[in-house]
Amino acid sequence: MAEGRARAFGPTRKREEEVAVPAVSVEHLSKSYGDTVAVRDVTFDVQKGEVFALLGPNGAGKTTTVEILEGFRERSGGRVQTLGVDPADHSTQRWLRTRIGVILQELAVEPYYSVRQVLARNAGYYPNPRPVDEVIELIGLSEKADDRVKRLSGGQQRRLDVGLGIIGNPELLFLDEPTTGLDPSGRRETWELIRLLASEGTTVLLTTHYMDEVEALADRVAVLFGQEIVASGTPSSIGGRDFGAVTIRFRLPDGVTLASLPVLAKPSDDGRVEIHTEDEVRVLHDLTGWALEGGHALRGLSVLRVSLEDIYLGLTQARAERRGEEPESRR
Ligand SMILES: Nc1ncnc2c1ncn2[C@@H]1O[C@H](COP(=O)(O)OP(=O)(O)OP(=O)(O)O)[C@@H](O)[C@H]1O
Ligand SMILES: [Mg+2]
Repeated sequence: MAEGRARAFGPTRKREEEVAVPAVSVEHLSKSYGDTVAVRDVTFDVQKGEVFALLGPNGAGKTTTVEILEGFRERSGGRVQTLGVDPADHSTQRWLRTRIGVILQELAVEPYYSVRQVLARNAGYYPNPRPVDEVIELIGLSEKADDRVKRLSGGQQRRLDVGLGIIGNPELLFLDEPTTGLDPSGRRETWELIRLLASEGTTVLLTTHYMDEVEALADRVAVLFGQEIVASGTPSSIGGRDFGAVTIRFRLPDGVTLASLPVLAKPSDDGRVEIHTEDEVRVLHDLTGWALEGGHALRGLSVLRVSLEDIYLGLTQARAERRGEEPESRR
């Protein structure tokens, strides 16, 4: 992060002021509903232009955090800024609402209006909206533009939710589980749309349960578990993912035995052979050099580092076990 780097080099006060204000800044945020603690001491920043993902099991506090940032819920403690202002401050709330786009986890839109009417009405709330037809095209609802909202399928309604989030041409877009309930092509189209918005400079804060969504979209990710952030980083480095062992797999070439390979390998569950190593450059060099020299085909060759899902489940299961709870995957 630019800010972290600047601090490490000991900037002057002036240089620190020049560092851009983050789109979102959360420091020691807490929220309780009566006796229920929903968020405990959560701290993170989202820089302008970033796509930031919040991951975490049901009830971890994602929606609570996001809705506090949008100004829809009040916090119990900590400091929060959205586009440089406190979202709970009534004097700036109207200003803020015209600059952010929101897709709530559950949204109720007027069922008797058509898709076009709903978008046009909402466009009227913003100073600089996107053209309604452009949004209809972007969300893939051109053929349903004149249908009433109540006739849309669940996935089509979710697309309309996305349309309502972007109609105001926001600087900062909050997406609470934007692709839950979408079919595979709907998910891909929504990803394309989010990438397009990001390429135009829109900052995006999304929550999701899908690891592939994080990998496809997020510059950075934080994992919420038990109301706290337990890890954060880039999708490729979080939880030490860029270090540690890789698994190399390939089909044993015809006429070759395990013992005659130049590296130590064992049979894999899928009929190939596999090697676990932390020294993959050396092992691949030895293996591919041997294959080229002897004219052996290494069919089905793959090199896999631990998946984001493995990291996520590792982080959340270890904590659940420490607390004597059931981890998410066994619920
Ligand atoms: N309005 C509310 N009143 C009381 N408790 C609430 C309220 N909203 C949320 N909670 C509680 O706060 C905790 C966090 O809920 P939250 O909705 O933020 O989780 P989440 O991470 O968004 O979960 P999901 O993945 O299921 O959407 C949960 O224990 C939940 O029961
Ligand atoms: Mg939620």
